Amino acid sequence: MTLPSRELIRASRAAAQSLADRNTPFIFDEWYVAAFGSEIGRLLLKRRVLGRNLVLFRTQEGRPVALEDRCAHRSLPLSAGTLDGDTIVCGYHGFRYDAQGDCIQIPSQATCPKGIGVRQYPVVEYGPLVWIWMGNPAHADPARVPQQPWLAADDWHRSQGYLPLHASYVGLHENLMDLTHLSFLHARTFGTPDYVSAPYDVLIEENRFVLRRSVIPTRLPPVWAEPTGIGHDAAARIATSEFVSPGLHVVTAQFYDSTLPESSRPVFQIKTAHIPTPESQHATHYFIVHGRDFALDRAEITEFMHQQLFQAFNEDVQGLEAVEQALVAAGEEVYEISVGSDRAAIAMRKYLKRRSDAERAAH
Ligand code: FES
Ligand SMILES: [Fe+2]
Repeated sequence: MTLPSRELIRASRAAAQSLADRNTPFIFDEWYVAAFGSEIGRLLLKRRVLGRNLVLFRTQEGRPVALEDRCAHRSLPLSAGTLDGDTIVCGYHGFRYDAQGDCIQIPSQATCPKGIGVRQYPVVEYGPLVWIWMGNPAHADPARVPQQPWLAADDWHRSQGYLPLHASYVGLHENLMDLTHLSFLHARTFGTPDYVSAPYDVLIEENRFVLRRSVIPTRLPPVWAEPTGIGHDAAARIATSEFVSPGLHVVTAQFYDSTLPESSRPVFQIKTAHIPTPESQHATHYFIVHGRDFALDRAEITEFMHQQLFQAFNEDVQGLEAVEQALVAAGEEVYEISVGSDRAAIAMRKYLKRRSDAERAAH
């Protein structure tokens, strides 16, 4: 039996002090996805984001609104009330709130004093996503919403889905940053044995982390072989994981037939927006939008890829939940040993920790 030496464990625990983990306080001053736009309508939608309860709805004009989900009177969730025009009537004693969160009517008395209300959160709808700013409203700059043109472009076909994840969003970012897990966690779905040892390069900036892996030549798994028609052993698969922000991670993959000359071979591209929105410290809303720029006239491909991909993403959820439970069970005993391919993920976790520490220092 060979266990890590005491020195190695001590060094690992010391290094972990500067890394975000499942217990690191949230970063509030960021845009996160609160919901798919299609989820928000004329029914009150209840959602917990960064540990805070929200109620979401769409005004009669179609604008999404997010309010704190707790009546200022006796705390009944406003989501248990009714939407009347662009106002919410609390289901307990009938206080009425407008879309700014201001209380405008108290039925038990003739007048409604000013200054009663609930917090309204800035939201921005872009493509299929509704982004929310949970932090200091003075810092909410819509220009900082991490927009991805392919999410709204007509020449991309998309499908979307949602997975509840009973684990930290930090682990999900790390999972996406290091795709060597494809050969093992996804051995039965979209991983291949050669993926784990394929060459890669890393880009580490102040707040952006990119890892690109080139698997050439390789055999594509059915999810990509079928729609691209590259069924032999000489395919190219180049996958780029990019941490865009605490609320967004984008994986891009390109496929081509490596036997064809570069000048004439078609290059097929897919992108997946992996969108981790912390729900609570140890639970994450995992929104996913997947898109492709080829076979746009084949609607059945959208359904096929969606089924195959979500089977794989479910493997991530199960794996991350098992990790979460193992960390809980290990308690104070826990330590992690990192390797070379963790470099981008380690830099990303340091960044999340710095951001979290900076916010707490500022408060
Ligand atoms: S709790 Fe909402 S009106 Fe009383
Ligand atoms: Fe995965």
